[in-house]
Amino acid sequence: MYKEKIDKNNIPQHIAIIMDGNGRWAKAQGKHRGEGHIAGAQALHDVMVAASKLGVKYVTVYAFSTENWRRPDEEVNGLMSLLFKKLDIDIFMDNDIRFCVIGDTARLPEDVQERMHYCINRSAGNQTGTLTVALSYSSKWEITEAVKKIASRVKEGSLRIEEITDSTVDEALNTAFLPDPDLLIRTGGELRLSNYLLWQCAYSELYFCDTFWPDFNEEELCKAIYAYQQRERRFGKTSEQVSNTPENCHQ
Ligand code: IPE
Ligand code: IPE
Ligand code: MG
Repeated sequence: MYKEKIDKNNIPQHIAIIMDGNGRWAKAQGKHRGEGHIAGAQALHDVMVAASKLGVKYVTVYAFSTENWRRPDEEVNGLMSLLFKKLDIDIFMDNDIRFCVIGDTARLPEDVQERMHYCINRSAGNQTGTLTVALSYSSKWEITEAVKKIASRVKEGSLRIEEITDSTVDEALNTAFLPDPDLLIRTGGELRLSNYLLWQCAYSELYFCDTFWPDFNEEELCKAIYAYQQRERRFGKTSEQVSNTPENCHQ
């Protein structure tokens, strides 16, 4: 059991997850893709609660990409109505989890936007954990928007070009309220980032597994955390430097 093997004093603060494989999970069982998404929503609930109990402060999941709008209408509509149904405020209140969203949410159906804003506002004071859902999100979209914001500040005279640093970019991104992910998990066997948190994952540890998202659970999460704990995060330094001052390794 990986749950017993993990070091409770070295839990990643922020885990980002690409929840992939719902469709293939359904196909393997002779089910409709939509059933894979329903099972995926249950897995998200279970993993969110498990992560929070383990002490993970932030979980950021990729639920719907900018590119996913290109899927057949039937699947997109099914996903939107599933989102509407599953955005249940009780889940966040019962577990003291703050709900946040990143992405081009103006493209979402109005009922989803309303339900989303209700959950964001009601759960805003929750402090045990933060679940951020990336909806209609892509990194290239987010970075492009950030560039526009920064350019307009320069144009209006409130920012000088020489003052632009990587923190300026951090602050202009949708994720300004989040620390960078320590660990990025992708389920479903594909070895790519699919336009997810490209800037923010500059120094994240990457973990890929074949498990389809609906089968991902607390034990799988602990396995990923265990793998993370075996890594040495050097942030450009030498191994000797890091082992002498582990707490300062990213400074
Ligand atoms: C991930 O599962 C969920 C979404 C992208 C909405 P997929 O639907 O991509 O499942 P596969 O990759 O086709 O198995
Ligand atoms: C990435 O999965 C997006 C989400 C998990 C929401 P996809 O299944 O859309 O990724 P690609 O297209 O296979 O890269
Ligand atoms: Mg996929």
